[in-house]
Amino acid sequence: MTEAERQPRPVPEHSRGRISRRGLLFGGAVAGVGAAAAIGVDVLTRASASPAAVPTEVPDADPAAETVPFFGEHQAGIDTVPQAHTTFVALDLRPEVDRAGMIRLMRILTDDAARLTGGKAALADSEPELAVLPSRLTVTFGFGPRVAALAPEKPSPAWLGPLPAFSVDRLDPAYGDGDLLLQVGADDPLTLAHALRMLLKDARSFTTLRWQQPGFRRARGSEKVGTTMRNLFGQIDGTVNPAPGTRDFEDLVWIADRSSWARGGTGFVLRRIEMDLDKWDRLDREGREQSVGRKLDNGAPLTGSREHDEPDFEAKTVVGFPVIAEFSHIRRARLADTSRRIFRRGYNFDAPPTAEGISHSGLLFASYQADVEHQFVPIQRSLDELDLLNEWQIPVGSAVFVIPPGCAADGYIGETLLG
Ligand code: HEM
Repeated sequence: MTEAERQPRPVPEHSRGRISRRGLLFGGAVAGVGAAAAIGVDVLTRASASPAAVPTEVPDADPAAETVPFFGEHQAGIDTVPQAHTTFVALDLRPEVDRAGMIRLMRILTDDAARLTGGKAALADSEPELAVLPSRLTVTFGFGPRVAALAPEKPSPAWLGPLPAFSVDRLDPAYGDGDLLLQVGADDPLTLAHALRMLLKDARSFTTLRWQQPGFRRARGSEKVGTTMRNLFGQIDGTVNPAPGTRDFEDLVWIADRSSWARGGTGFVLRRIEMDLDKWDRLDREGREQSVGRKLDNGAPLTGSREHDEPDFEAKTVVGFPVIAEFSHIRRARLADTSRRIFRRGYNFDAPPTAEGISHSGLLFASYQADVEHQFVPIQRSLDELDLLNEWQIPVGSAVFVIPPGCAADGYIGETLLG
């Protein structure tokens, strides 16, 4: 997109003030763009036509220079090896933004996301030096019901909207719903902060911030690549998960319906789950392992010795009780119908504790699946009915988005809906 194309079109009087500030922004800062060197090298290839192209390893060559391609059949940031940091942001459209406005916004965001993820400065980048170390930056966009409704002639997935109520929920609207999702991930928090600020500057005259939730895993390089993450309960979390690059992943994650604008995209659920670490402190090691059905040291099922051993749900103790208890999280989260599975790509959060030092930590439970109603909801229902982990975990935020498919270099994210 050229600079001229990025200039806002004439807008109604009531919104002109905001837009003209945006015009000033673009007018003033473009000169720095040429100075930003694009040093990113494409060492990672995302899934496109061939599932075999999906990376399973992050090479160690020059971690800061690594890029993840932005354009492709699917958006990046889902089948990408999880970066150390991810921030999830939900924006609300300003009331005056119509379909044409949304197209303009998505063109601008797509353009800047492509530049930044390639290690190049955003078009009106005020700190272009911060853009030159992409550190596997990805930007993933999602649409809430209000964006989907801008194109009423194109039916959206029936599940798009708030989840049904669950008895464990203690939902705070401050972490709920939203019109436009930005999921920004990178191995370097400075790269991430800069990219997010550039994108939010782009979006300012079209949207307001609804919520922002930063999450983290271990720093890049502190563990061997491919190590399953640990959550703040100390558990290995993410062992049983469809593997990117497999047929299983393709079927479970990407929307396949040929008649849908969302084909090639996915359904996204973000649950903010507080973990009561102070109560967890009072549980002994055996109780902790029983609650999940796995060992804390290496994540092996209680019936096995290595992390990826298959759990034996039939095994009994000498007195006849199941070794993996009926109330255990892994028993309850595994449904007999194997089409009801999800792809988990969660992040830890660590909000400031109370004045008394009581923690506010937890998990940004990020779940990707082709059909939220068929896959996520029944698992959550099963956990709602029975799961010992419910003693220590409280869902406080819940949001559902369609993540549209990716686009080609001359397109924009959302074109299959809005175009
Ligand atoms: C703070 C909340 C949660 C914690 C601490 C947690 C922790 C864990 C742990 C330690 C495992 C075992 C290792 C693994 O396979 O990843 C696991 C498995 C799993 N969890 Fe969770 N989990 C949480 C919430 C949820 C939620 C909300 C869902 C879905 C609605 C869910 C779905 C699953 C599934 C599908 C598995 C794999 C089960 C299998 O073995 O087939 N979890 N979780």
